[in-house]
Amino acid sequence: MQVAIIGTGYVGLTTGVALAYLGHRVVGLDVDAAKVNRLQRGEIPIYEPHLAELLQLARKNLTFTTDYATAIAPAQVVFIAVGTPALPDGNPDLTYVRQAAQGVGWHLGQNFTVIVNKSTVPIGSGNWVETLIDEALKTRAHNAPPFAVASNPEFLREGSALHDTLYPDRVVLGTQAPQALELLHTLYQPILEQNFTPPSFLPRPAGLVAVPLITADLASAELIKYAANAFLALKISFINEMAQLAERVGADVTQIARGIGLDQRIGSQFLQAGIGWGGSCFGKDTAALIATARDYGLGMGIVQASRLVNAQQRQWVVDKLLQTLKILKGRRIGLLGLAFKPHTDDLRDAPALEIAQQLVERGVGVRVHDPVALPRAQREWQKLEIQYYDNVKTLAQDCDGLVLVTDWPEYRDVAWEELAPLMRHALLVDGRNFLDRERLRQAGFTYLGLGR
Ligand code: UDX
Repeated sequence: MQVAIIGTGYVGLTTGVALAYLGHRVVGLDVDAAKVNRLQRGEIPIYEPHLAELLQLARKNLTFTTDYATAIAPAQVVFIAVGTPALPDGNPDLTYVRQAAQGVGWHLGQNFTVIVNKSTVPIGSGNWVETLIDEALKTRAHNAPPFAVASNPEFLREGSALHDTLYPDRVVLGTQAPQALELLHTLYQPILEQNFTPPSFLPRPAGLVAVPLITADLASAELIKYAANAFLALKISFINEMAQLAERVGADVTQIARGIGLDQRIGSQFLQAGIGWGGSCFGKDTAALIATARDYGLGMGIVQASRLVNAQQRQWVVDKLLQTLKILKGRRIGLLGLAFKPHTDDLRDAPALEIAQQLVERGVGVRVHDPVALPRAQREWQKLEIQYYDNVKTLAQDCDGLVLVTDWPEYRDVAWEELAPLMRHALLVDGRNFLDRERLRQAGFTYLGLGR
């Protein structure tokens, strides 16, 4: 099929590369000419495992352009996958969605086209996009071509975006137009029936033979996305609240997570207590859900509470340093991990930034390390007076404490035994309950987890 994808960010690029790999002809459209040039040369502007490799395999089916006419006119399916950053009031900024919808309206070809909202947009946006396209079409001289708008929310996680795209837990299609559903069904058929040859570096999970398809009305599909993210965020906040209590009563939250997670009604994922969630989705989407609900007079108490707990978790780390070191002014503290989670260089809503800011305000000399996100942090955090290290051992020299902020696997392999003697205080706050605390203690560290 002929596909256009507006927006070549995480979601757009991953979707485009995956669909091209599956045999569709895909045009990636972006207003950023420099980005389009890089993509045309096969360079990937983001850090995402396997994306460059899959792009190489899909090259013959994939082109990039800044020109709406080239991308939209021949397309049977147009994805809108542009950014929807949060406004101060919690509502998402829909400027880019509006521009994309108008661009589609001005350039639609004469055959039936389905326009798919893949960006996370507020409930009701499908109808709004339809109106925008309709209005743009009216400005055209010839007869308006037929089209339908659908919602196809995205559940991919950064760091495993391609895996989640090729092997999703489900595909959600929100539309009541039979023709749109038929086109999208054909588009996703290789994924739904898992009848493609997996790339060698992304093997199919054992036992996966088919992916469930959920068809829904537009509003329900839009709400599914918000509900999923709010629920995952809530799960993390729930275990974090338990961690606060566990620590006070002398229990271990990791044992509690195992003990409840094996109950199949609860499930063991997203019960890892620690510094709390970060990233581009959970904070933004829970805020948007609350903002939408407010319009209908609903308080969304559970979602609000989960945001509150999340904010407390970041503070908890600073409190632990304060309780142990008593005075923070003049100390040197090293933060290990800056990205909001491992396997990405994404710094959006990264807990490390807030912790670093708080420490700097308290007069701490902050040193930071990250296996991948260091260059990005140097660019994006210019205003923050912190020191960047590409070597953990050098960072630890003369430090009063270390905080593990991101659970990058490489931190397990640090030669902790060599680090402790170099430090002024061999203190380690493990913000992810990730390291082997017995080993750390044997290496001479005062090890503090969260909730254990
Ligand atoms: C999330 C959703 O998982 C995905 O479905 C949606 O499409 C986009 O938002 P992502 O933001 O990439 O994906 O990250 P995710 O893996 O969900 O982690 C979010 C945050 O929660 C990270 O900061 C992570 O460290 C934290 N987390 C996750 C925990 O603190 N504990 C856990 O048990 C799991």
